[in-house]
Amino acid sequence: MHPDLETIVLTEAQIAERIRELGEQISADYGHEPVLLIAVLRGAALFVADLARAIESPVEIDFMAVSSYGSSTKSSGVVRIIKDLDETIEGRHVLVVEDILDTGLTLKYLLKNLASRGPASLEVVTLLSKEGKQRVPISCRYIGFDVPDEFVVGYGLDYAERYRNLPYIGILKPEIYSD
Ligand code: PRP
Repeated sequence: MHPDLETIVLTEAQIAERIRELGEQISADYGHEPVLLIAVLRGAALFVADLARAIESPVEIDFMAVSSYGSSTKSSGVVRIIKDLDETIEGRHVLVVEDILDTGLTLKYLLKNLASRGPASLEVVTLLSKEGKQRVPISCRYIGFDVPDEFVVGYGLDYAERYRNLPYIGILKPEIYSD
């Protein structure tokens, strides 16, 4: 285990198994319909790479990057699009891929924005959902794991851009982020 971590909450094997299950479920739901995975950078980059390979339906992948205006205004739900999609989503089956659902404010904004572009369907898959933290109701069709409200890093999730490359998800030691 990385020395900056207090404990591992999800092992590499647990993540892989859950993604295999999510892939099966998504493949069953979409069948032969092409599904457009929209990954929200940067955290979801690792998840979408593994999830795409677990889906048997025809898959296309596009990326969006968003940013909130600093931590103090994050709660305002004001989100800025840093990188938009490369293609139109009108009439397509869109599945937004997130690494973690926390307050839900980012997704709320994104879903409203994407819905206005006229997709045939619009659903969300998130690897992690923080228990009891959602401040706005988000309809999330696929959830990998519910996790406690701790500072989790790894498998795409960062602290100050570090730890995204850890193959597992763990809780950061408080002394690392309280410095
Ligand atoms: C994380 C995550 C979601 C958002 C969730 O992104 O990937 O996009 O926060 O938080 P919310 O539910 O409270 O809105 P972050 O801003 O850390 O960017 P990153 O993916 O580049 O690490």
